[in-house]
Amino acid sequence: MPAISVSAPGKMILCGEHAVVYRQPAIAIPLQQIKTSTRIFAHPTAPQGEIHLVADAIGFEGSLFDLDESNPIRAALSLVKAYFSIAHFPACEIRIHSTIPIASGLGSSASVSVSLISALCEFLGHPLPVHEINQLAFEVEKLHHGNPSGVDNTVIAYNQPVYFIRDELLEFLQVTAPLHFVVANTGIPGSTAEAVANVRQNWQKDPLKLEGTFNQIGEISAKIRSQIQAANASAIGTLMNENHALLQTLQVSCPELDNLVNAARTAGALGAKLSGGGLGGNMIALVQPETGLGVMQTLLQAGALSAFETTLARTKGG
Ligand code: PMV
Repeated sequence: MPAISVSAPGKMILCGEHAVVYRQPAIAIPLQQIKTSTRIFAHPTAPQGEIHLVADAIGFEGSLFDLDESNPIRAALSLVKAYFSIAHFPACEIRIHSTIPIASGLGSSASVSVSLISALCEFLGHPLPVHEINQLAFEVEKLHHGNPSGVDNTVIAYNQPVYFIRDELLEFLQVTAPLHFVVANTGIPGSTAEAVANVRQNWQKDPLKLEGTFNQIGEISAKIRSQIQAANASAIGTLMNENHALLQTLQVSCPELDNLVNAARTAGALGAKLSGGGLGGNMIALVQPETGLGVMQTLLQAGALSAFETTLARTKGG
């Protein structure tokens, strides 16, 4: 029996990616179909501080200390040690298994950080409240792409749909009626760090223009939040299409994403857009429950590497 076992979900960004880095609102939703599981087994007979790591997501098996100090997994351990002011972590084996495709906009890095940090704290006998886990995971996210908004670690740590403004607002979304989505993977790895850096470069060249686009995206997020409360799926679909067009002007889409977005719309989706950092990775389509399967099949025929359906459930009191 494993001593400790902790899972964390994946996530999708419904709207507001990239603009959220510049303090515009975004909506993100946890995805339970894909997840990271971290298990930690005590090794009481091994010398103190010895940590064996098996991490399939990065294809690694060996001493955790063979990883570079800046590696996010090693950094997560260092942060936990510093948090509890301990010099040596008890000897153990850490097994990290993730079903979240990496570099695909579905939160693989934040999910690994949240599950690992939670498991390490539990293993020490000091489970931390969610906001502390979230804060530590945010520190690790900074290693992945320098200037993260924090939306990924937040939606995954709280495991609830969120309306999020960087450093300002964390609101748990009220969902009045369920919404159905198809998520499809282009199969092209998209580097969030690269996409965020490109947007920053363009912003530095033409701040007025880019800030105009960020504002428009922020307004879309605010409208989608209202339409979720009003249970108006067709208005949400239209707003998602508008969001995708603005992401195209930010140059974070790519032909493969545009192809899947167009295919989904032609197959009857209410709206479709890229999701996450872009330059590859995943797109999402809002569908009626009865059209979901057809849209998913169309996306696979149009070249998606994989696709799945997911539902944003009605919230209590929503
Ligand atoms: O590609 P992902 O899943 O890491 O999503 C990144 C979302 C961005 O808005 C592009 C970056 C951020 O830090 O919010």
